Amino acid sequence: MQTVYYIVLVPMVYVAFAVFFLGTAIRIVKILREPKNPSTLQIFPEKQPNWLYALSDTFFFPTVRRHKPVLWVFLMTFHVALLFLIIGHVELFQEFKIFQIIPHEVFLGKGFVGLILAITLLFFLFRRFKSPTKELSVPEDYFLLILLFLIVIFGSQMDWARRWYEYGELTVEDYQVYLNSLLYLKPELPYNVTFTGHSFMLVLHVFFANLFLMFFPFSQLMHSFLALPMNKLRRG
Ligand code: HEM
Repeated sequence: MQTVYYIVLVPMVYVAFAVFFLGTAIRIVKILREPKNPSTLQIFPEKQPNWLYALSDTFFFPTVRRHKPVLWVFLMTFHVALLFLIIGHVELFQEFKIFQIIPHEVFLGKGFVGLILAITLLFFLFRRFKSPTKELSVPEDYFLLILLFLIVIFGSQMDWARRWYEYGELTVEDYQVYLNSLLYLKPELPYNVTFTGHSFMLVLHVFFANLFLMFFPFSQLMHSFLALPMNKLRRG
């Protein structure tokens, strides 16, 4: 069992990040090399400043807000929670003054970042069992949402156990030692990371996260890198 834990928590993480960065770079280069679309993608009437409209289209989804306000609320909530999630993971390496503008304990959000992500992902998943979204959905959509939900549930469980149920065996200090050892290419697994009752949750969290990172460059999640340039093309 310890060998499986080691493989998931060390080499598989390196492979996952290598596939994520390399795969994403290759996809973006391929897209940039594709012959230009002869017809314009620009929408009219042109609105100025066009870069501001492109930013607003990308981060505030005005079309969704107009036509599907409930979906818009879940989309905005999900993406804002995702931003806090990224900050939360960065702080697992060490605390940064800039993020402590509002003093908080690591993982930030008192467990609610994970809870919000879990609820919004369930909404995105269940709406795909209803027409017309059901007819527009492909197996990849369900796979991605279920994978993300599993990552979020196991990640949150660790935080909820520590914060809401005072389970103290797996601490933020243990995560810091583990994650910094990965970062400095001297992988080290503190005893608590692999020998406590909740170690399997960390291993399942990281296992599904690794799958997600390896799948990312080949999936529609690439929209996260392409949305802004596409909206800039549309806004001229
Ligand atoms: C790639 C996608 C990933 C997603 C979507 C994700 C999501 C999450 C979520 C939702 C939480 C809980 C937040 C909360 O408590 O409110 C969390 C916590 C955590 N994640 Fe991730 N994670 C990802 C990748 C990773 C990776 C690659 C690692 C390590 C190699 C990792 C290590 C952790 C740790 C150590 C915690 C802290 C749990 C605690 O506070 O006890 N995560 N993650």
